[in-house]
Parts: sequence; C-alpha cells; structure tokens
Amino acid sequence: MSANQTSTPVKKGDACPFILSDNEPKETLISENDSKNATCPFDKAKEDAKDMMHQNGELKTEYEVKINSLNRLLPETQQKKGQEFLSDPQLAFAMKEGTKVVHTAAEDSIFTKRFLSGAITKDEYGRYINSLYFVYKTMERLLAQYKDHPTIQMVYFPYELNREKALLKDIEYYYGKDRVAELTSDSNITPAVQSYIKTLQDAADKNPSLLIAHSYSRYLGDLSGGQILAKRLKKYVLKIDVTDAAWDSYHGLEFYNFDHIANNNEFKNLYRQRLDGARVTQYTKDLIIAEAIYSFELNIALFDEIQVLSEAKKLHATLNDNDTYTVASERSVSKYAPSADWFVGFATGALTLAVGLSVYNRISERL
Ligand code: HEM
Repeated sequence: MSANQTSTPVKKGDACPFILSDNEPKETLISENDSKNATCPFDKAKEDAKDMMHQNGELKTEYEVKINSLNRLLPETQQKKGQEFLSDPQLAFAMKEGTKVVHTAAEDSIFTKRFLSGAITKDEYGRYINSLYFVYKTMERLLAQYKDHPTIQMVYFPYELNREKALLKDIEYYYGKDRVAELTSDSNITPAVQSYIKTLQDAADKNPSLLIAHSYSRYLGDLSGGQILAKRLKKYVLKIDVTDAAWDSYHGLEFYNFDHIANNNEFKNLYRQRLDGARVTQYTKDLIIAEAIYSFELNIALFDEIQVLSEAKKLHATLNDNDTYTVASERSVSKYAPSADWFVGFATGALTLAVGLSVYNRISERL
C-alpha cells in the first residue's frame, strides 16, 4: 500500500467480525473507544489486494474476484451486513442439540460409567467435589461480577443455584473440618481444574455472554443427570438403604440438594425460557454453543484426571466411615502433597484438553 493510502477505518455496524455493530451488546469483542479508530483486518487485506491489482495493472473484475474470495474467509454469519439481535434465538434448544454428542461422550467416560454403576470410592468422590469447588467458586464469582450484563441477568439465579457453600459442607463431611482450609487452598488445584477456571476467566474477559454456556452445562446438568448420580452415591458410597430414614437426608450430598428450588423440572423449564429470551445475535449464539461444547470437554478432562489420580493412588484420603462428619480428622499431613507429581500421569486428561483447546483457540480467534 502506498504511503498516502490508509485502510478504511471501521465504523460500528460494518460487517467486521472484530467490531461492534450498533445493535451488538457492549460485551462484544472490542470496546467502543477502540472501535472508533479501529481498522478491520479484512478491510486492510482488501485494500492491500486492491493496491496489488493496480500495481500489476490487472483488470477490475479480477480485483473483485479476489475481494470476494477474501470475503469468504469471514465467518458465514459475519458476511451478512448488520448483526441484529435474534427475535427468537431458541438458545435452549440449540444448546441441547449442540451438546448432544459431547453429552454422550461425558456419559461414556470411564469415571462417569463407574460413577453410574456405583463403583466409585469415597476418596474419588471427595476429589470430584474438591475439583468442583474450585470450578463453582470461580464461575459463581464471575456470574456475580457480570450479573447486570444483559445476557447474564436472564439466567442469574444465585439464591436457587449457587453451589460453593454446599460444596464446602460436603468437603467438611468427607475430610473433616480441620482439612477444609488445606483442601480449598490454591495449592490443591489440579491441572484439569486450572484449565477449567482459566477458561471461565478467559470467557468472561472476552465476552461475558459466554458464561451462560458454563452456567447451563453445570447447573442444568446438576439438576438432571446429577440427581441420578446422587442416588447412586447414597446407595453405593454412603451405603444407605432406600428403606433407611437417612435416605432422605443430604449429609455428604449437599451439592445435589437444591433446597431453594421446589421443583427441578419446573425450574429447568424456567431456565430454558430465560435462555430463549436472551438478547443475542446469530454470531454470539454460535459462540455460546461452541463454548458449551467446550465446557463439557473440560468436565470430561476433570473426570479423566480423577481416574488417573485414583489409579496412581494419589487421592487425598477421606475420613473413615466411623469418623465421617462428627469427628474432626486427626490427619494433618496430606497423603498427597501437591508437587511436580501432579503433572505425572495426566496424559489422558492432557490429551482431551489439547483437543478441546485447539477447537477453543480457533473459536477464540474469531472473537
Ligand atoms: C453419568 C453422567 C450423566 C448422566 C447419566 C446424565 C443424564 C442426563 C439426563 C437423563 C438428562 C435429561 C434430563 C431432562 O431432559 O430433563 C441430562 C440433561 C443434561 N445434562 Fe446430563 N448426564 C450426565 C453427565 C452430564 C455432564 C458431565 C454434564 C455437563 C457437565 C451434563 C449436562 C447436562 C445438561 C446441561 C443437561 C440439560 C440438557 C437440556 O435440557 O438442555 N450431563 N443429563
């Protein structure tokens, strides 16, 4: 491009994937200030192509062919001028359909299969809620931070859904009061959990609307399949018989006890209605679905990691049945001290994450 030529400054509303349209919610992509002087990379490429055509003295039609081929590099949804909010986004249905395959993959992971068949141990379940503690703590902090965001406020139900406190109670139940601080400290964050919480933070930084994908996959999952898992835990891990009075108690299973929700199915329907009412463009909708798929992959990695830790005998020991809940643990030294060992034997989890991350990076590049 010649020195006196500048690329076209991008105006809000231009069909550029990196720039806000007039209708695009504020969360999108780059700030309004930035967008004033921003230059669309595609426009720049087109200017360069135009410049090249003139230098080579080629025909205008050929120039147009090149420009059209550059336009084809734009995501399909961005090729349309204007990014209107969808009047009927049907986000709930799209998310359910979009995550169907990866949901089956989650159900098929070794750990969940063992969970469903009642074969998991108390130590494994303990690690599961310990990992989830870090995930929910981060997710709930971010949802609270963005609670006034137009998309987040549609599905923001902290009173009904928040799980951080319930998970703390469960950690105390399985390990004793004395160990709660140690187990909930950052030094007990495993690699799969670290990737999960980093993804949550990255999503919030890039576009807070993406957080609804994480909220959907966890909370709706807990209110659905999670309730099946809770029954398996009662029977096989806590060894409570269905005829025992204790069957109705939630000691050790507070995580699954949504005591501010009267009817799970009605609440799930409300949540789906709220998802459908979210103000999203087609572009944001596509990103949310991709993020939901990625969220499932992060959960699969978290399961795989517990399986690997268990096989390597690197799980924290839970209290003995007799000690559970009432007696504070005498154990003060962790059976599994966090160290470089964390990184040994995570091939399965790392592989799953690597695949997920490459998909995610491709998506992130569009943001
Ligand atoms: C053993 C593993 C699992 C079982 C048995 C299971 C089972 C189920 C069942 C039966 C439903 C349908 C409930 C309904 O239609 O109302 C459901 C829905 C759901 N599950 Fe799972 N699930 C499992 C794992 C997971 C995992 C790991 C996640 C994600 C973290 C997840 C997320 C969801 C979501 C988001 C829904 C709601 C779908 C919708 O209605 O949009 N599930 N699950």
